[in-house]
Amino acid sequence: MAQIGITVNGTHHRHDVEPRLLLVHYLRDVLGLTGTHVGCDTSQCGACTVHLDGEAVKACNVLAVQADGSDVTTIEGLAPASGLHPLQEGFWQEHGLQCGFCTPGMIMAAADLLKSNANPSEGEIRHGLEGNLCRCTGYHNIVKAVQYAAAKMSAGASVPALSSAEHPAVATTAR
Ligand code: FES
Ligand code: FES
Repeated sequence: MAQIGITVNGTHHRHDVEPRLLLVHYLRDVLGLTGTHVGCDTSQCGACTVHLDGEAVKACNVLAVQADGSDVTTIEGLAPASGLHPLQEGFWQEHGLQCGFCTPGMIMAAADLLKSNANPSEGEIRHGLEGNLCRCTGYHNIVKAVQYAAAKMSAGASVPALSSAEHPAVATTAR
């Protein structure tokens, strides 16, 4: 066992873990943060995307011990306390999901994209999300959802209009 200390969504955690434990399983099984999904476990689908020290990573591709001392943000920690992140609102407004399984990872990857490119073109959005697979939507409405969020964030909107309780699939989808 190895002792790790990780700050997740602003809360510091210290645990003894198996050195082989993946970060995604630490988040889901140890911390109970099941909004981060496991779609493949082989770094293909992006359903497990979280932010590690501010960068989007596939949490099935990182050992928990590698995240020792780091800051992690999951889909549960993305929104402000009083509502939805503009990306979550965008997925709601533009119908950017069907089953919702890919949605947390899509949103975390898109949030990273918008940090470096506040006004991405359709092509830049598709390129930025190419590591995230969706089996349902055909991606068109996902692109529109990201464009919605980019426009809202560029306009300086900071108070989301919808409550996460109204649409859990775009907030903290638990599966
Ligand atoms: Fe991590 Fe699919 S579960 S990329
Ligand atoms: Fe079903 Fe994307 S909405 S996998």
